[in-house]
Amino acid sequence: MDIFEAIQNRRTTNTAFIDKSVSEEHIEKLIKMASCAPSHFNSQPWRFVVITDKNYIHQIGKIAGDSMVQLMEDGRFWKQYNKYFRFSEDEIEKTKDGIFIDHVPMVLRPFIRTVMSETGGKVLAKLKVPKILGKDEEELVAGSPMLFAISLTKDEYKKDELPGMYSLISMGAVIQNLWLTTTALGMGMQFISTPCEIPEKWNEIVTMLNIPEDYEMLAIFRMGYVKEDMKRPSIDWKSSQRKSIEELAYRNKWGNNIINS
Ligand SMILES: Cc1cc2nc3c(=O)[nH]c(=O)nc-3n(C[C@H](O)[C@H](O)[C@H](O)COP(=O)(O)O)c2cc1C
Repeated sequence: MDIFEAIQNRRTTNTAFIDKSVSEEHIEKLIKMASCAPSHFNSQPWRFVVITDKNYIHQIGKIAGDSMVQLMEDGRFWKQYNKYFRFSEDEIEKTKDGIFIDHVPMVLRPFIRTVMSETGGKVLAKLKVPKILGKDEEELVAGSPMLFAISLTKDEYKKDELPGMYSLISMGAVIQNLWLTTTALGMGMQFISTPCEIPEKWNEIVTMLNIPEDYEMLAIFRMGYVKEDMKRPSIDWKSSQRKSIEELAYRNKWGNNIINS
């Protein structure tokens, strides 16, 4: 797969992975490709924990599911993310950003826009929808053959200081290298970020993985081999659209058309 193909084919995997362990050869490849990421003064501020132990994966799945339920029931999920939700092809064509919620249970379809809003969130809580979606999240994570956690050394990752921003930029490059490598290996990858929004839940994972005091765990992903027609979660979305180059870039000065006319 050439690099341009890998970049364009890279997608977040919202579905389950095939029930197949990730080979040791591919685990080594992922870590090797991650380590090729650029970092300021080649400081390599990142360390990785590769979780293949089923018991840990199940525990983290439970934490992720419970976090999803909590974020939805207390309304934070809708309040924070409602602005990214799109409910029709027209909306997606117009904005070319956000996530197109194109897969919802039949019964919710007529009211999906209201349902996926702050007020709707309260109704959903009564209808136990957060529990359903929390179960989905738990099963997706717990059913994954591998999780991949990224931590940064606190020697570099100092919030509000330049090295802190530099090491975050470098972590972004690591994540993209991982994502492109999974794409090239017929694997998929998805952020597990719900626990990240509830400090006590995140700390449960940090303790479980024995992340030392002088490191900060900042991201955790589920990874595995993908297959086309995997069953989609009960509420699912698509987000492959991107803005045009004219909308994203300018020539020589902000505002100048990028196309050198
Ligand atoms: C910092 C960050 C956090 C994200 N958190 C989640 C998440 O919790 N769940 C998820 O499915 N995708 C998550 N994503 C993936 C985005 O939703 C996805 O990249 C975007 O919708 C574009 O879709 P694509 O990755 O398929 O191109 C996250 C991406 C970033 C960069």
